[in-house]
Amino acid sequence: MEIRKVGVVGCGLMGSGIAQVAAMAGFTTVVREVSEDLLQRGLGIIENSLERLAEKGKIPAQQTASTLGRLKPTIRLDDLADCDLVIEAIIENLDRKRELFAQLDKIVKPESIFASNTSSLSITEMMTATQRAPRFLGLHFFNPVPLMKLVEIVKTVVTDPAVVEIGLDYGRKVGKTPILTSDRAGFIVNRLLVPYLLDSIRALEEGVGSIEDIDNGMKLGCNHPMGPLTLNDFVGIDTTYYIAEIMFNEFREKRFAPPPLMKRMVLAGMLGRKSGKGFYDYADPKNPKPNSLLVG
Ligand code: 3HC
Repeated sequence: MEIRKVGVVGCGLMGSGIAQVAAMAGFTTVVREVSEDLLQRGLGIIENSLERLAEKGKIPAQQTASTLGRLKPTIRLDDLADCDLVIEAIIENLDRKRELFAQLDKIVKPESIFASNTSSLSITEMMTATQRAPRFLGLHFFNPVPLMKLVEIVKTVVTDPAVVEIGLDYGRKVGKTPILTSDRAGFIVNRLLVPYLLDSIRALEEGVGSIEDIDNGMKLGCNHPMGPLTLNDFVGIDTTYYIAEIMFNEFREKRFAPPPLMKRMVLAGMLGRKSGKGFYDYADPKNPKPNSLLVG
């Protein structure tokens, strides 16, 4: 089976990027949001990203128009009926995802492949909401999707090997390096990344170093593009907290347990870049200032 038409459900930060790279790679891409407002906001993210890529000469100027021309925005799930591959990128909530997949299963042609972009929820649990278990897999992209070169291809114990091959091939066609992994919370990247992000918060809590020194330690000492506390702010402290809880419940290991400071920040609405405050204050986004979070 050849993928010609792609459907993306959800046009938030991840969904918009996933739709963008599909359309950039030449696929007709139906992108669905629940309301016109959210759809327009998502399309705005795509236009902005394409403009930045064109301005920097990373894509030819005419690719902006051709990519936008391949995008078919909609608020109707029915418009996904003839997509060969449908990628879900809605809120990280298992019940909502299961509900969506059960609906899609009735609408979308039976030979189509379903994929979820979840970062930590069980692909197997979503799959069981449908009648197409062998044609179900995970396609986990990274933020910002247009720039990050990786996609994780997640197979369950019943994913058809031919579908895994199609997933790997799709990853390459959208310009990513695909890596294959099994359905375990966190897959490969978050299994390694999340304990590191949590440990950076524990290090801060324990007074090992200041926010800036912890970040500079990993940025300059290990050549990471961002320090771990900046990365926590970038991903969203609530998002990482939520992923950590899922991983802690799955593995019952201390290294996945969110530290108390993280929970307090989430409760206080300090969610990182998106809320304007996290480990840093983003009142001036180009010049973030470390926040004072601890006594002393
Ligand atoms: N679209 C197009 N261009 C973009 C863009 C986007 N969405 N976002 C940034 N850019 C461009 C900028 O215009 C700039 O272009 P230039 O280099 O030609 O001037 C370039 O990218 C660099 O951007 P910035 O100067 O703003 O900042 P950086 O140099 O720090 O690069 C970064 C940004 C690529 C995000 C880099 O900091 C990075 O790689 N950080 C780590 C990101 C990371 O680890 N992501 C994974 C998160 S984990 C995850 O997603 C999993 C999930 O399950 C939690």
